[in-house]
Amino acid sequence: MTAELIDGKAFAASLRDKVAILAATFESKAMRKAGLAVVLVGDDPASHVYVRSKGQQTVAAGMASFEHRLSHTASEDELLALIDKLNQDRFVDGILVQLPLPDHMDEQKVIAAINPDKDVDGFHVINAGRLAVGLPGFVPCTPLGCVMLLKDRLGSLAGLDAVVIGRSNIVGKPMAQLLIAESCTVTVAHSRTKNLPDVVRRADIVVAAVGRAEMVKGDWIKPGATVIDVGINRLPPEPGADKGRLVGDVDFTGASAVAGAITPVPGGVGPMTIAVLLRNALVAAYRNEGLKLPADAI
Ligand code: GUN
Repeated sequence: MTAELIDGKAFAASLRDKVAILAATFESKAMRKAGLAVVLVGDDPASHVYVRSKGQQTVAAGMASFEHRLSHTASEDELLALIDKLNQDRFVDGILVQLPLPDHMDEQKVIAAINPDKDVDGFHVINAGRLAVGLPGFVPCTPLGCVMLLKDRLGSLAGLDAVVIGRSNIVGKPMAQLLIAESCTVTVAHSRTKNLPDVVRRADIVVAAVGRAEMVKGDWIKPGATVIDVGINRLPPEPGADKGRLVGDVDFTGASAVAGAITPVPGGVGPMTIAVLLRNALVAAYRNEGLKLPADAI
């Protein structure tokens, strides 16, 4: 192994510490805590785990956590009414509706109902548009966390060749926008890309966000490249085990023999997502109260 490990767990912990200090400053100025509301519809077990963890980390950072759980039989109108109430609530700075939603709900319609200035997930079309034209708004947490890790490792990203594998609204597309803003030369590859290994071989920065276990092989990686693995995939269990191993979208063993630096799975990008969510919620609180955050504080 030649690659340096990018320790997302440690970086996320230090980001949470910075958020906690600024959350305390916010509370002393606004005479209230910054507040994050999380809405969970239905009983997807993975979503329950995420939502519990978000609530715990929000409170640990000195912010107020408001959790709302609706049954999987709740109507879309009930969810829209709850979002409207949270939009009006001045103690709620950020609103996150946990995805996926049950099939009878229209995700785009639900996201569109969130006040863009409380949309800490950055999923609203207004925030996607703000990102595209370079206006301040909210950026989806996972890609923002990836850029933080990249800048921490590489400093300026200007002029680097970046390949993003995956074109989802949540990761691939905003990731590409962020890298363009950092003056990278950006290629977005996806399931219909021809000669994907050759495309990836050009990259100084590889961001893999396809959701396919160990798809990106070691011999696709340019020597010395920085590899960011957004995937979290569970392999089928080995005989005798009840759970399979968690792996990313990159063949870690193969890639780490060639890359300059790489994020592990778990412990790379994963822990960044909630830390950046707390950061976005705190930024929302400062903006909603018309308070100034120190430049580049978080
Ligand atoms: N489900 C999985 N990841 C996310 C996320 O970042 N935000 C929301 N709202 N739902 C998710």
